[in-house]
Amino acid sequence: MVGALSAALLCTAGATALPAAADVPHTPGTTDTAHNSRTATAPRLPDGLAKTPPMGFNNWNSTHCRAEFNEEMVKGIADLFLAKGLKDAGYQYVNLDDCWALPTRDGNGKLVPDPQRFPHGIKAVADYVHAKGLKFGIYTSAGTKTCNSAGFPGGLGHERSDAQQFADWGVDYLKYDNCNNQGVDAKQRYRTMRDALKATGRPIVYSICEWGENKPWEWASDVGHLWRTTGDISDSWSSMLDIAKQNLPLAPYAGPGHWNDPDMLEVGNGGMTDTEYRSHFSLWAMMSAPLLIGSDLRKATPETFEILSNKDVIALDQDALGKQATVLRSDAGRWTLVKQLADGGRAVALFNETGQPQRIATTAAAAGLPQAAGYRLRDLWQHRDTHTTGTISATVPAHGTTVFRVTADKRWTDYPPAVETGTDRAPLVEAGTPAAVRSTVRNLGGTPARNLTVTLKAPQGWQSKATTPATARALAGGRTLTTSWRITAPAGIAPGAYDLPLTAAYRAPNGARATATLPGTAHVVVPPPAGTTYAADLPWLTAANGWGPVERNTSVGESGAGDGRPMSIGGTAFTRGLGVHAPSEVGFYTGGRCSAFSARVGIDDEAGDRGSVRFEVWADGRLVTSTGTLTGTDAPTALSVPVAGAETVRLVVTDGGDGIDYDHADWGDAKFSC
Ligand code: GLA
Repeated sequence: MVGALSAALLCTAGATALPAAADVPHTPGTTDTAHNSRTATAPRLPDGLAKTPPMGFNNWNSTHCRAEFNEEMVKGIADLFLAKGLKDAGYQYVNLDDCWALPTRDGNGKLVPDPQRFPHGIKAVADYVHAKGLKFGIYTSAGTKTCNSAGFPGGLGHERSDAQQFADWGVDYLKYDNCNNQGVDAKQRYRTMRDALKATGRPIVYSICEWGENKPWEWASDVGHLWRTTGDISDSWSSMLDIAKQNLPLAPYAGPGHWNDPDMLEVGNGGMTDTEYRSHFSLWAMMSAPLLIGSDLRKATPETFEILSNKDVIALDQDALGKQATVLRSDAGRWTLVKQLADGGRAVALFNETGQPQRIATTAAAAGLPQAAGYRLRDLWQHRDTHTTGTISATVPAHGTTVFRVTADKRWTDYPPAVETGTDRAPLVEAGTPAAVRSTVRNLGGTPARNLTVTLKAPQGWQSKATTPATARALAGGRTLTTSWRITAPAGIAPGAYDLPLTAAYRAPNGARATATLPGTAHVVVPPPAGTTYAADLPWLTAANGWGPVERNTSVGESGAGDGRPMSIGGTAFTRGLGVHAPSEVGFYTGGRCSAFSARVGIDDEAGDRGSVRFEVWADGRLVTSTGTLTGTDAPTALSVPVAGAETVRLVVTDGGDGIDYDHADWGDAKFSC
């Protein structure tokens, strides 16, 4: 028992806490002059390599050290670069990561390729890759051994010989890791290999991988062409987000030939949704990050290829000016990032960190564009051009990113006006009972949207009816059409989330057709029964946890469902309640039928005296109560609050301000009176 618990808690201790959005310094978009001076004076490598961030592939994120990392794989990836148009899209490097060598050098101190993985040696693979017009990369560590526990040889003390061996094989890119560095000064270790690479006379892109430990952005612009800024990425939303937040503030240090590297892409590896992978790819492109594909393309879905080959987004990453995006605004999980582009335009990414759709808006002026009557606005995921007179806005889905390329364009009237679609809510629908939604369609342009038709498309078998006009002959620039809808889900339908897209179809004055679609959701809900009901016996609208799933009637176990233990807070046992892990939010539909909520809350005793959290109860958008910071030594805190009239109640646990380690929180005896 004790062993299992400490293992679980260890995993928590190793977790990286998500900093609140507000933790990231607010970097106004108007600091470009400062950036210019910083990048202009930084010394550079004089070799002209990596003028734009390197693009290619690396096996690590998909295979780690497993046997499937071998010659067949590498050749297969090179083949797919051509077959799938990735080479055309700009991907160039096919790179090997750790585990390609044997653990011991040969009698001459040379590195020996693992004959099982690379039966024809490394040069043969490099030749194969080169024959396709691609480039080839390899890996070793600036230490005595690489990072893998098998102990493959590292380059420390062998720089000249290893660099020459790489050059002889035809290596075009070296990733130089940081493990087993024997405490030798990082600047010295990375400079020695820089000089060794230079001495070979072969142009080799040099990727410094010391995980940001020695702030390479401050000293490495004339050492390497890119440097990792963080620890390793993993294939999860929280890892990707955490790394993006660490890399964003480093914008002033990036530029042609010297890039911040927030680690390789996880797109397609299966741990995130496609919406999340689009955000990952958008953020990396906005941050001028190297785009190294990290999934095994031989198994990739069409969606993965579609994301990785989005040329509109790649063009931001590869923009000749080489300016990393800055944070124009970050507020409650809504992010506006702006990237200055070589053509004078700006890329604007509206990124929604939250689990709910959010409206995020800015203006062309705030993004740093010159004053103009109109701007061309290209949506880089929908590949559609419209125009705006200044507003840049969208309702962005949960964990989604909308990316626009905005250009001052004299011919802006050639493009249809942009319209922004929105709804006042994601409706909660009781089967058989009509629910109300209001949609808005706003013309952001300077010309009318003609023959406008708005539809709110409910699933088959549902009814969706506009009770006020849903069409307009012409919606003038700056005007909004608001429509009320009544939607009804068929009796007996299963509770859950259903698609409810809102579409505005219209014509530009020049006759061109345009549409704008907002992917929406309706939740079919079940009213709570009359009387007193334990929260653990009610269905959840939403349930989110920092670690593992929310548990009914046990503490949280951190990984699979049902892996919790009996709940107890300060020595008091609870047989009923919810076991959660900060940051957590569990939502309930109360439908205006419940009068009160009560619970006894605190940190579960299994966390010992560690962990600290705050509990909050929200009725609709209103904070009804919150505890102070509770720690592992506190007795249960009793909560009893009115929730009369609320349609939803949300039970929230925050991390108490010190990260989420050990934050096992219990809502003991949580119940509703309805
Ligand atoms: C380190 C690096 C990773 C990967 C592994 C290989 O963790 O940061 O990117 O190269 O080593 O062992």
